[in-house]
Amino acid sequence: MAQPARKVSLTGIKPTGEPHLGNLVGAIRPGLELANHYEAMYFIADYHALTMMRDRDMLRHYSRSVAATWIAAGLDPDRMTIYRQSDVPETFELAWVLSCVTGKGLMNRAHAYKAARDKNAEVGKNDLDAGINMGLYNYPVLMAADILLMDSDVVPVGRDQAQHVEYAADIAGSFNHLFGDRHKLKIPQLVIPESDTGSTLPGLDGRKMSKSYDNTIPLFVDESQLRKLVRRIPTDSTPVEAPKDPNSSSVFQILEQFAAPETTIETRKRLQAGGMGWGDLKSLLFEILNDVLGPLRERYDQLMTPNSELDYLLSTGAEKARPRAREVLGKVRDAVGIH
Ligand code: TRP
Repeated sequence: MAQPARKVSLTGIKPTGEPHLGNLVGAIRPGLELANHYEAMYFIADYHALTMMRDRDMLRHYSRSVAATWIAAGLDPDRMTIYRQSDVPETFELAWVLSCVTGKGLMNRAHAYKAARDKNAEVGKNDLDAGINMGLYNYPVLMAADILLMDSDVVPVGRDQAQHVEYAADIAGSFNHLFGDRHKLKIPQLVIPESDTGSTLPGLDGRKMSKSYDNTIPLFVDESQLRKLVRRIPTDSTPVEAPKDPNSSSVFQILEQFAAPETTIETRKRLQAGGMGWGDLKSLLFEILNDVLGPLRERYDQLMTPNSELDYLLSTGAEKARPRAREVLGKVRDAVGIH
């Protein structure tokens, strides 16, 4: 008998910035962990990035960079599927069908769109839609297409993307209500890895490490740059001799995510006992990060060289993803009466 198909975990990564430590802890590691239990389909959401990116070289660079980062961090292209959204054109056909069963009101209530309007209101613009393109407005429909096209079971995303996954489930519901006697789209389930592990990383200003706060430690900077950035993590003015609370230290919270368990325990004790200064802790963190990231950086650099195997790996990924996409799209077309 054929093996029952494994459940699918799917997520998209928008290539709009240099990958940083927060991505590794908050998205990449949990994504790789899920691949032990699910069939993992992870893709570069390059057409989502186009809603805001206007520099072709940057878009190309970030698209390769994000893919190279996931592979350097341990994504095994033989065991998992990594592809570019733009290499699966079925996505855009499904997006149109979905937009025809999606209420405009739902899009009006989407967080990202509302935030853009609020910003216009703040700066006193009369037209609250000023500068907002249709790509931004339709963003949730395209994302629903990414998800529903692959019959995804679970979608691991950060908290900020939760509404989008809920929308995908709603949109699938609308489709099923209208056409479900012919074909039912699978309703995806939202997974927020952060809440399970509590592994939100603080950034250079103590807030959550995020590109939008401009407080990140990029994964692949050189040693001297890494050392400088670690020095910038804020600390309080507790003197060297005084006992310190590891849990309220950003430096320690980052260290915990990268150090061996024994080192973490040991360092915790040393801080609590007093006598370990923030400078010592930062030196230790630098050493640990440099050790962990060194081998990743090497693989990343290899993949980022022009004409490396990266492009081959991505097109092979798309070849694995497309048959699945064609099958779902075929059923959808048939259900709605296209040909
Ligand atoms: N919108 C997501 C983000 O900005 C990226 C994304 C695009 C995505 N399509 C997706 C995530 C489908 C999960 C599933 O991070």
